[in-house]
Amino acid sequence: MSIAFDSEKRIFKLDTATSSYIFQIYEQDYIVHLYYGAKIPDNNVVGLKYRGGFPSFSPNNIKVDDWMFSPDVTPMEYPGEGTGDFRISAFAVRNSDGNNSTDVRYVSHKIYAGKPAIDGLPALYVENDDEATTLELLAEDSVTGVQAVLYFTVFEKLGAMTRSVKVINNSDKTVQLERVMSTCVDFHTHDYEMLTLYGRWGKERSLERRALAHGRQLVSSKRGSSSHHQNPFGAIVDKGATEDYGNAYGFNLVYSGNFAFEAEVNQFAGTRVIMGINPEGFGWTLEPGSVFNSPEAVMVYTPDGIGEMSRIFHRLYRKHLIRGKWKDIKRPLLINNWEATGMDFTGDQLVTFAQRAKELGIDMLVMDDGWFGDRNSDRSGLGDWQVNEEKLGGTLAEFVDKINALGIKFGIWYEPEMISRDSNLYRAHPDWCIHVPGREKSIARHQYVLDYSRQDVRDYIFGEMYKVLSTCKIDYLKWDFNRNLTEVGSAALPADRQKEVFHRFVLGTYDVMDRLTKAFPDMLIENCSGGGGRFDPGMLYFSPQIWTSDNTDPLERLTIQFGTSMCYPASTMGAHVSACRRTGYDTKGNVALWGSFGYELDPNKFTDEEKRIVKRQVKEYHKYYDVIHFGDLYRLISPFENNNRAAWEFVSEDKNEALLTCVVISRPADTALFIKLKGLDPDKYYVDDETDEVYSGALLMNAGICLPNEGVSDGSSFIRYFKSLK
Ligand code: DGJ
Repeated sequence: MSIAFDSEKRIFKLDTATSSYIFQIYEQDYIVHLYYGAKIPDNNVVGLKYRGGFPSFSPNNIKVDDWMFSPDVTPMEYPGEGTGDFRISAFAVRNSDGNNSTDVRYVSHKIYAGKPAIDGLPALYVENDDEATTLELLAEDSVTGVQAVLYFTVFEKLGAMTRSVKVINNSDKTVQLERVMSTCVDFHTHDYEMLTLYGRWGKERSLERRALAHGRQLVSSKRGSSSHHQNPFGAIVDKGATEDYGNAYGFNLVYSGNFAFEAEVNQFAGTRVIMGINPEGFGWTLEPGSVFNSPEAVMVYTPDGIGEMSRIFHRLYRKHLIRGKWKDIKRPLLINNWEATGMDFTGDQLVTFAQRAKELGIDMLVMDDGWFGDRNSDRSGLGDWQVNEEKLGGTLAEFVDKINALGIKFGIWYEPEMISRDSNLYRAHPDWCIHVPGREKSIARHQYVLDYSRQDVRDYIFGEMYKVLSTCKIDYLKWDFNRNLTEVGSAALPADRQKEVFHRFVLGTYDVMDRLTKAFPDMLIENCSGGGGRFDPGMLYFSPQIWTSDNTDPLERLTIQFGTSMCYPASTMGAHVSACRRTGYDTKGNVALWGSFGYELDPNKFTDEEKRIVKRQVKEYHKYYDVIHFGDLYRLISPFENNNRAAWEFVSEDKNEALLTCVVISRPADTALFIKLKGLDPDKYYVDDETDEVYSGALLMNAGICLPNEGVSDGSSFIRYFKSLK
């Protein structure tokens, strides 16, 4: 078992192939964190709970004999509020007396093979119980009777674990949950940097690195979605850690709503890291006997640098997060009409897209926004999910038949959580959108957000979707979400439950997505939120790929894709070649090959030369699919650190294939580029597909290869494919 309990010392040890995570049940049943880091064989780590002295002003517990112990400085596994620990708390419950003193202590535990699901929430899963081991630890606040079940699951082979919490109101009084963080880790030092991903629409997930400083440092969302602006990812890494060296601890929340990732350096220079639902804007009324589940936090540790941290996330998500038919099989290469036509298209026009697509070897046509209701601009129509037959020139089934008859699959766009002010649905049900009484509703993109905390609203929307999707063969659905939540309230909830709306909205979205995936198990779902505004593991549980950004400029995409790859695998990143002005089609294709590849343009406008390039790209897509989608990513030259070039490499699991891509962002003065590959087998020999030269893995990794100077200019790029001699 990868989780052991030493009943004498009352120590839990959770091991993976590369990490150990250790905590102790201390005097008075305090749950004291001891160690998280490189794998160690023993559990003789009880001294790690001390901070070198006892600080005045820090409270201690009269019943604990150990004078050095104080809840304020001792590392804690699930710290409460207002009971001696002044650092950021993981758990705060306002009890029926009106105070929020909270303090849960160990009661009992069980350890078992496998991993339980979380009711109503996406989470990592196992197919066989031998893939993970779970510790379920019951803790209780003896004054209020509120219980917290702490779940720790260890993915032994992958160097990863997950944490989540189930709160049970085991009392006879109603309580108010104020903070239920999913994880808390107390590090012994603050000799770390914090990595986070910030951005905005069109420029998502830029990497930001800061030294930890005394006090609190927080990234979060209170937009109702995980957001373009901060991603629910954060890492704590050794100062100066690189792609290949240094301790790296990655955190990622399986949640698509308001989140918080926060680190606090305390008086003794220890660092507390918490992650979970953002307490700002959150509250939950928990009646006697009721249960509340936190979302799941994923934790990855490696001693081998930031690159290996990312690869562990990628392996973990490919195997234990992505689900369904499209998990392991090749996804269709698609063409989407949005950038070419906007909403101004006709069925006949899209049939010509499909005809050209067929000639070029593309598999699927995706009809984007504008096919329903009175949707000819973004001012109207959302919520009226009835097919605009006039625009399509017939029923949807007739239109799809025409596309399918060409040998092309068909995909469709939806924005199910939204309602236009100018829509029949809004006229019929003005109270179905999120709003608060007496306050003007902020409008964004001329639309409001539907109140998905309401079952009747969800039932109606799902019913309308089902009617359309079941009339013909729809192979793919793009689920979009184009504004954030304001004036957050629900007409269906009483005043004292309005604080629940943010979280209930997310649960409602997951409910509809769950129904959709069950009703149409073969349909590929691509998530989207004005590009990558909801690029998070919660969404990946329902949709194996997400449209990474509305920005399809290949040079700007470099930082977006590098940042996204911090924890999300290539197979999850929707990446399309578009008609944007910068760079030629070669570089557009080379950059888009990183993700789930496609086109987003009018194929009728291709020149003969462009058609030739596209046909080559289609072949490359098939040839390199496995190494990109299932291989290991090495970020070789980061556009966050180098203004001239970016380079990355995929290596197959068996190390028999490697695909190197290098993009010249701005031609540097030193034009020669010796690029050293990574992750190969030093003892294998590899053929360079382009030159037929044979090199050892050792040579390619230590000396590198010289990429050509001839013809290099701003925006040019190279792909080199290496295959081992068997
Ligand atoms: C935002 C998406 O990111 C685009 O790809 C497109 O689907 C539009 N919405 C449609 O309104």
